[in-house]
Amino acid sequence: MAYHNIIIAIDGFSSCGKSTLAKELAKHLGYSYIDSGAMYRAVTLYFLRNQVSISDPASVAEALSNINLAFIYNETNKTSEIYLNDENVEPYIRDMIVAEKVSEVAAIKEVRKFAVAQQQQMGLQKGIVMDGRDIGSAVFPDAELKIFMTADPEVRVMRRFKEMYVTNPHITIDEVRHNLELRDYIDSTREESPLHRAADALILDNSNLSRDEQFHLVLEWVRERTKPVKA
Ligand code: DC
Repeated sequence: MAYHNIIIAIDGFSSCGKSTLAKELAKHLGYSYIDSGAMYRAVTLYFLRNQVSISDPASVAEALSNINLAFIYNETNKTSEIYLNDENVEPYIRDMIVAEKVSEVAAIKEVRKFAVAQQQQMGLQKGIVMDGRDIGSAVFPDAELKIFMTADPEVRVMRRFKEMYVTNPHITIDEVRHNLELRDYIDSTREESPLHRAADALILDNSNLSRDEQFHLVLEWVRERTKPVKA
């Protein structure tokens, strides 16, 4: 007996723990994990490095034609990492300078078309966990399992602060709070695929759940959707 491979779409606000859950699930199920936010961050990094004017559609289109994104599995870290034109850019894409610009870049229609086409391609074989903002609503509207994650705003601020503090000990809680609030606002009010819960997405509020409790709850949801079939 074997289980069906499905698509698991995880959406929600920044710093709700989407990637932690997505990675754990992918590892447990033997699925691939795709961090769609990393794609928008890598595009943003390219735009910053090359001083692409985001208000000029021709510059944006030209820049996108020069961008090649790929996810490559890192055996040591046991996770997939994003490459921008053959350079591993994982060390740079979470810097504050990228975080401050990424929501604006992700709101550009052409950028979304560019990223979504690649994301849909990655889902053709199923057996994938993808996290982001529009995965259940726009990228994979037919995903077998859609999860919409939320958490108390202050819990999220502290989680992101602790994460960023490791590489940037000068960062303040206020800076992190301001960045999260701004990104939430832009992500959920933009014209193109704003962040919203797909009608058939299950809500997961993890403010008061341990990582383990959350994982086992979601695993139940996965099992309900992957009925055993003959191998
Ligand atoms: O998940 P994250 O914080 O790494 O995402 C970075 C930004 O990219 C975030 O501000 C919203 C945007 N994003 C998006 O618009 N659509 C996605 N599917 C994933 C991320």
